[in-house]
Amino acid sequence: MTSAATGGGWFHPRQPRGPAERARCKSARHVFLVSRAWAALLALGAGLPPALAQDEVPFITTPDRVTMAMLELAGVGAGDHVVDLGSGDGRIVITAARRFGASGLGVEIVPELVVRSRASAQAAGVAARVEFREQDLFVTDLDRATVVTMYLLPEVNLQLRPRLLALAPGTRIVSHDWDLGDWQPDRSLTLEVPEKAIGREKKSRVMLWVVPARLHGTWCSGTLRLRVEQRFQRFSATLEERGRAAPVVVFDGRIDGTRAATDGGPTAQARLRLVGDVLRLDSASHAAAAHAGRAFARSAERAGAGPAGCAD
Ligand SMILES: C[S@@+](CC[C@H](N)C(=O)[O-])C[C@H]1O[C@@H](n2cnc3c(N)ncnc32)[C@H](O)[C@@H]1O
Repeated sequence: MTSAATGGGWFHPRQPRGPAERARCKSARHVFLVSRAWAALLALGAGLPPALAQDEVPFITTPDRVTMAMLELAGVGAGDHVVDLGSGDGRIVITAARRFGASGLGVEIVPELVVRSRASAQAAGVAARVEFREQDLFVTDLDRATVVTMYLLPEVNLQLRPRLLALAPGTRIVSHDWDLGDWQPDRSLTLEVPEKAIGREKKSRVMLWVVPARLHGTWCSGTLRLRVEQRFQRFSATLEERGRAAPVVVFDGRIDGTRAATDGGPTAQARLRLVGDVLRLDSASHAAAAHAGRAFARSAERAGAGPAGCAD
C-alpha cells in the first residue's frame, strides 16, 4: 500500500496562497500527524525500527470481526446512516450497508482509497446506498449521521470530541482502540484478534458512546425549578419549589440520549425525557412524586438573557 505521506511536499517552505490551498495543506498536516503517530505506534507494537515505521502507511484496516463488533455494538440497522471518519478501503461503511441495510458515508483523504472504496461498494451491490468522498474528516458535515465510526488516534479523537458531543442526542459513536479521553464509553468490549496487523497483544478494544442530551442548566415549571449539573452522561439534579427553603429532592443518574434516569438505590428516583425543548419529569418518587408529569422549559439564564433561575 502506498503511503499517504510518501508523496513528498507535505511541508511547504512558502505560505499557501488561496483558501483552497490552505485547506489542502491543513488536510495534509492532519494526515501527516496521523501517519507519524501511527508510525510511532507501529514501531512500538510491531517491533519495527522507527525509521522504517515512519515510512509506513497511516492506513490500517479494522479487521472484519472487529468491524462487525463495532456495528453490532452500535446496534446499526436499516434506518441508520453510518459515517466512517477516515474510511480507508471503505470496509466499515460497505459492511454497514451490506450486512445491516444501513446507508453510509466514508470520508477519506487518500484519493486512491476513495476510488477503491467506490469500486468495492459497486462489487458489493451497495453503491446506491453509500457514498465515498475525498475529504478531510475535520470538515465533514456530520448532521445526517446516526452512527459515527472511527479508527483514528487518541489526539485526533480528542480534537473531534466537541463536534461529536454537539451531535443530536442519541447519535452513537464507535471507536476502534482509541477512547475519547475522560468522556467514558457507555459500553466497551475487547476482542481477541489474532490476525491484527499491529500491536503485540493482538486484541482490539471497541467502545460505544451515545451522545447525551444537553440538560445542564436551569429548567422551570410554574413554581418549580430544576437545576441540572451535567458531565457527559452523568447528571445531578436538584428540584426546588418557590417558597420552600429546602430542595424538594436531589437525585443523580445517567443520561442515555434524550432520556435521563436515576441509578436506583434508596434515594429518590426519577425519569426525565427531553422532548424538543421541553424536559418532562415522567416519573418521580419520594417528595417529588407529586410533580411527576410536569414539563420544564429551559430558563433564560442559559442564554445569559436574564437573572439566574426561573421568573417569579
Ligand atoms: C487507521 S485507518 C482506518 C481505516 C478504516 N476506517 C478502517 O477502520 O478500516 C485511518 C484512515 O484515516 C485516513 N485519514 C487520516 N487523516 C485523515 C483526514 N484528515 N481526513 C480524512 N481521512 C484521514 C487515513 O488515510 C486512513 O485511511
